[in-house]
Amino acid sequence: MKKITFALPKGRLFSQSIEIFQKSGILNENIDQNTRKLILESKDFKFLVVRSKDVPVYVESGIADIGVAGDDVLLESNPDVYKPVDLKVGYCNIVVAGKPEDKEFYFSNPSNISVATKYPKITQEYFSQKGINVKIYELYGSVELAPLVGLARFIVDIVETGTTLRENGLVVIEPIRPSTAKLIVNRISYKLKSEKIFPIIEKIEEYLRN
Ligand code: PRP
Repeated sequence: MKKITFALPKGRLFSQSIEIFQKSGILNENIDQNTRKLILESKDFKFLVVRSKDVPVYVESGIADIGVAGDDVLLESNPDVYKPVDLKVGYCNIVVAGKPEDKEFYFSNPSNISVATKYPKITQEYFSQKGINVKIYELYGSVELAPLVGLARFIVDIVETGTTLRENGLVVIEPIRPSTAKLIVNRISYKLKSEKIFPIIEKIEEYLRN
């Protein structure tokens, strides 16, 4: 049978995911992460190294059986996949941020505001629900620049350590929700490869319980 394929976001969450797989006894080998290779292999698994936003695409399409993605990514793309386990890593907060002097305007019940973000769907839903018209500037990175140069007054972004906001003179204005990494599973793989996938989920759950 083919190896079970994981889509893992490159960066810190990649090594944290591998560590969880090792500590839960699913993976008994070391994976060399000091490489530019995009497909890493162990005896039983393949690991695809992808951008965090792309994980749901690989899992929903069935190219990967299993993936690891943050709530930020999942809320934005809303993929049709199983989300069986909260991996309790990748803690961050999705927030509205901006310049401290714009706090007063934000809470003055404005009818229109402008927001730069990598998360247009989360942003639209959040402000629609508040009854505020939002002009969204979708960016692909360095979102904190937008309020500094006047592209948008506010940003919706994830905050992990707070360093990027702090170093750019921005503050959290309103928290939207916390986000952690979830294990996601392709729906067809979940049924057709259950004899391999169920033990993986069980071992991870057991490890996280202890
Ligand atoms: C993310 C996020 C913030 C930063 C938050 O960006 O969009 O900019 O990390 O982390 P901090 O609170 O620990 O500073 P990322 O590093 O993924 O880079 P990007 O701007 O290129 O998307």
